[in-house]
Formats: sequence, C-alpha cells, structure tokens
Amino acid sequence: MLFEPYKLKNINLRNRVVMAPMTRNQSPNGIPTEEVAKYYERRAEGEVGLIITEGIEVSHKASSAYPNVPRLDSQKARDGWKKVVSSIKEKDGSVIAQLWHCGGFRKLGMGPDPDVPGYTASGLVKPGKKVAHEMSLDDINETIDAYASDAEFCEELGFDGVEIHGAHGYLIDNFFWEGTNVREDQYGGTIENRSKFVTKIVEAVRSRVSDNFIVGLRFSQWKQHDFNAKLANSPQELEKIILPPVKAGLDYLHSSMRRFWESEFNDSDENLAYWTKKISNIVTIGVGSVGLDTDFIDMMASANSTSIDKAIEDISKDKYELIAVGRALIADPEWVIKMKEGRLEDLIPYTKESLLKLY
Ligand SMILES: Cc1cc2nc3c(=O)[nH]c(=O)nc-3n(C[C@H](O)[C@H](O)[C@H](O)COP(=O)(O)O)c2cc1C
Repeated sequence: MLFEPYKLKNINLRNRVVMAPMTRNQSPNGIPTEEVAKYYERRAEGEVGLIITEGIEVSHKASSAYPNVPRLDSQKARDGWKKVVSSIKEKDGSVIAQLWHCGGFRKLGMGPDPDVPGYTASGLVKPGKKVAHEMSLDDINETIDAYASDAEFCEELGFDGVEIHGAHGYLIDNFFWEGTNVREDQYGGTIENRSKFVTKIVEAVRSRVSDNFIVGLRFSQWKQHDFNAKLANSPQELEKIILPPVKAGLDYLHSSMRRFWESEFNDSDENLAYWTKKISNIVTIGVGSVGLDTDFIDMMASANSTSIDKAIEDISKDKYELIAVGRALIADPEWVIKMKEGRLEDLIPYTKESLLKLY
C-alpha cells in the first residue's frame, strides 16, 4: 500500500512516501543552485511520491537564522526555484515548498540584516529567557502577509503547494506553546488564541492562491531546545490547537514525531499522527525515524536502515495516509526503489558525513 499511487487533492502521487523537509545550507545568498536542483531531481527520479523542500525562509526581515538557506525574495532565488520545480516535474515528481520563519533562533549579527533581532510572540526564546523582540500587532500582520505573498509566488513558480512550518520551536510553534507565548491579547492566553497566528496565516495564504493549490501545516510537540515539551497533553487539547487552522482551509497536517512508533497520550498506544488524523479528519503525514534504527534526537548521529513494516501497517489500517522519510533520503536518493524491491542490503546508511554533500 505504501508503494501504491495516492491522490492528494488534485495531484496524483506515485506512492505514499514523502521526502521530509530538510535544510541543506547549500543556497548561497538564498539562491538554490543547479546542484540543489539536481539533488531534488535525483529524489524524483528515485520515485519519491511527494517532495517537500527544505525550509525556505519566508520573505520577512527576521526570518533567517542559519547560513545559505534558500529564500524567495529575489528574482535570482525565484529563478533558482523555478529550475528546481521543472527538474522535479521532468521526472514526474510532485513538490511542495516549505515556508519557514526561524523566530527566536535568530540572533543579532545574523544575515541578511545583522541589526535585526529574533522575533517571537512575547520576546521569549525559551521559558523565562527574554532576549528577542516581542512582536507588535503590526509585526504580526506584516509576517502573515509575507507568508501569503510567498505562497502566491510558489504557485506562480509551479509548486503543487506550500507547507507552513509550524514545528520544532520556530516562530509559529513559539506562538503555539504556552512556555514561550505569554501574550495577553488575542494571540495569547488560551490554547485557541495561541493557535490564532497560524490560523490567520492559513486564511491569508488561502485568499491568495487558487483552490487547487495545496496548503499544509507541519507541527510538533517537541522543540529543538526541549524534546519533552508538549503543546497538548490530551486529544482534547490537540483538537483546540489544530481545528482552527484546519477550518481556515488546510489540505493536510504533518505530524512531526521523533519516534513514530511511540504513543502520544496516556491510555492509548497510538501516535501523534493517528490522533491528528482522527481529530482533523484531513490527510495526515506521519514522520519520525521511519526505516532507521536510531531516533531523531541528534541529526549528527549515524543511523542504519531497518524494516518499515510498522509504517506500512499504520497506513494499511488507515491510521494516517502518508509517511515522510528524512535522513534515509539524504543518504540514499534511491531509498524508495530499494525499499519497494526489498533490497535492504543495498541501502546507503545515514551518517553525519551524508550531510556534507548533496548526494
Ligand atoms: C539535516 C536535517 C535538516 C532538517 N531540516 C528541516 C527543515 O528545514 N524543516 C523541517 O520541518 N524539518 C527539518 N528537519 C526534520 C526532518 O524533516 C524530519 O522530521 C526528521 O529528520 C525526522 O525524520 P527522519 O527520522 O526520517 O530523519 C531536518 C532534519 C535533518 C536531519
């Protein structure tokens, strides 16, 4: 079932394997190069069902925190992405752009404007640590607008959709989490209010793209700086977080877990993707150490290939629809073909060296 075609909105995916978004830091001045295009093309040729690009910094002055991450706010960057999209399409692939705002991970001195600090919901970068700029309502509106206009660019460039990166402690997740959002206005206070920032982003994006264009949201309980943090302690709390953006027009949710086989809430063995699908009733992608023997705690740790039976079982039982694969696809562009053919011994294992080059 994992390797059979699947229709996501109006696009026909070759199979249910999704390439997880992964930052590669290989786009100087925000421009994806020919090598970047070839890297994605190899995954399309390798029969990945749906490619989600690495996080693309949304066109806002404070979105960036890492070197050589691609952007959309120059003609050269957009031309670079056009090439990426056409390379993937030439190999019959499908591709969604991930839009990313780094929020409190940004520090003064970082590019492109070193005088711009990190922006967060309440100036907090983690509970009790207030070193970032607390966003005003004008800042919030400006940022929402940046997502919407970038989504419009993405549709013009030929992407099949956009994924809003709301996971791992970055800006949107900083609004979601009570540990970092202590605002007292409409964007803070209750769980529903903490979800309002992303809901407004989804509304704004939807108003600027066509109905056929896919709009997804990635979210997680865990944060880069706190693996045990939780946005929701129960399915009821999860419902309050995810239903408002779903109603605003999402086509899918992408539940980012570190170990997809782990139970999410007490009294049930089911994982976050299961609950996401059950509550939202929209297409759900599950991710987190699929096909690897080491969980996603440290991306620099090596991981060997292992069976994907549990993932296949979840899909077959309709617990969620799609499976995203990250590190395994960094190391081996032919992961899907080899897995489909049961050639586990041919797989190239993931090591920290795999990160140095675009294989
Ligand atoms: C090198 C690297 C870069 C990543 N960059 C992103 C990113 O830009 N956006 C994002 O949402 N997740 C990012 N992630 C997380 C992955 O999408 C994925 O959730 C994680 O690797 C777990 O999946 P895996 O166990 O199959 O690798 C990154 C992971 C790695 C290893």
